Amino acid sequence: MESIKRIPSLPAALSSLVLLISAVVPLATAEPTLTDDSQCGCYRNNDDTSTYFTNHRFFDFRSLADYAGVPAVVQDLEGSPGAPVTSDYFKSTDWTSFWWLGSWNNSNNARGDSTVTMTNSPNNVYIEANTEPDPSSQTYLTMRTQRLRGFQTAAEIESVSSDFKYLSLRMRARTVGAAGAITGMFTYRGGETLADVQEADLEIRTADPRNVMHYTNQPAYTDDGEVIAEATRNATMPGGLDWTAWAVHRMDWTPGLTTWYVDDEMTAQIAFQAPRDESNVILNVWSDGGKWTGNMTLLDAAYLQVQWLEIMYNNTDPEHATKNSKVRRDDDAAEGKGCGAVCSVDDTPELGKPVMLWNNAAVGVREAGAGRLIAWVPTGVVLVMALLSTGLLV
Ligand SMILES: *[C@@H]1O[C@H](CO)[C@@H](O)[C@H](O)[C@H]1NC(C)=O
Ligand SMILES: *[C@@H]1O[C@H](CO)[C@@H](O)[C@H](O)[C@H]1NC(C)=O
Ligand SMILES: *[C@@H]1O[C@H](CO)[C@@H](O)[C@H](O)[C@H]1NC(C)=O
Ligand SMILES: *[C@@H]1O[C@H](CO)[C@@H](O)[C@H](O)[C@H]1NC(C)=O
Repeated sequence: MESIKRIPSLPAALSSLVLLISAVVPLATAEPTLTDDSQCGCYRNNDDTSTYFTNHRFFDFRSLADYAGVPAVVQDLEGSPGAPVTSDYFKSTDWTSFWWLGSWNNSNNARGDSTVTMTNSPNNVYIEANTEPDPSSQTYLTMRTQRLRGFQTAAEIESVSSDFKYLSLRMRARTVGAAGAITGMFTYRGGETLADVQEADLEIRTADPRNVMHYTNQPAYTDDGEVIAEATRNATMPGGLDWTAWAVHRMDWTPGLTTWYVDDEMTAQIAFQAPRDESNVILNVWSDGGKWTGNMTLLDAAYLQVQWLEIMYNNTDPEHATKNSKVRRDDDAAEGKGCGAVCSVDDTPELGKPVMLWNNAAVGVREAGAGRLIAWVPTGVVLVMALLSTGLLV
């Protein structure tokens, strides 16, 4: 009789079950949760091979109205390379810790067939208000090239570090303007000879049909000017887009392979001549009157406009490899566990911010995990009490 009385009513048993499930399920499925870079040991790339990178940076140009303004073009060749930066944004440590603005010129005639003097100028990199109807951002970064009397003014942003070795580089960007220019996003490692150069490129020629893009593991030609066909692909923008429309252009450089995407759709993959050694990361717009770029008509201009830039990467220079990654540094140094706290920037609800996929690092128990363990004790006690009260445990 006693035991019959102790059999719990159906509603009580169900509510115990619900309590049990709700207590256990969050731990079992561990929904990715929004976190920040300081908590991430590494980042899992959503490519075929799930490549891992140890670093992540996000440069967001979408809401920089305080810095917006289109600077007048510097009209003389001599004044161009030394021109000041166009706003304080380019003095911020967020920017200068990663990028610098190119000011070199082509007087060395490195590209044998150039017919126009070209100089890069910091004056051609600026934050611009987005005035399109129904704008998808308040502002963006613009890189400008223009044909002036006697020379071509151009723009380049280059990574401070030359020691990137493998990366996934993404930009939401568009190319607009006149024929006769190239806009590019690439890795670069110089060499004594053309054959020594290592470089993985996205290039858009403004003279081309507006849906054609060029993907290349350089060099794509020999000293004799012969084309190396395996090194390069002409691809078209997916989804009927052309490159004057905003799209996410992505290049993954992984061991032995370069893979390109537009809006998450793979557009090309080249194993031949994939870069092998430490390289810079570069964006540019330029023209030199050579065969590749073509000539730009006097006073015409072309632009690469970028809403945001995101990069996941490894870097062999310790100074650039440990940035904002407290968890990995503690963990690696102390216990050699490598990548215990794994994040993703692909499956995130907030662009540029990582989610934590899982955290097996010992350091995770000390840091992120501690709160959860403490929270678990009362949950367990409550659960046992609930089960006792309904008689399930007796
Ligand atoms: C990046 O570095 C981490 C840690 O050394 C390593 O596990 C990972 O495989 C590297 N990624 C690539 C693409 O080599
Ligand atoms: C072009 O670059 C060379 C080599 O750096 C430099 O000596 C020269 O002054 C530059 N010319 C101009 C006009 O900036
Ligand atoms: C690729 O594009 C370039 C420049 O537009 C053109 O000269 C070349 O013939 C194209 N190659 C192929 C295989 O279509
Ligand atoms: C560009 O113009 C120059 C003359 O100003 C000419 O020598 C050169 O061949 C032209 N380049 C192309 C690709 O047409």
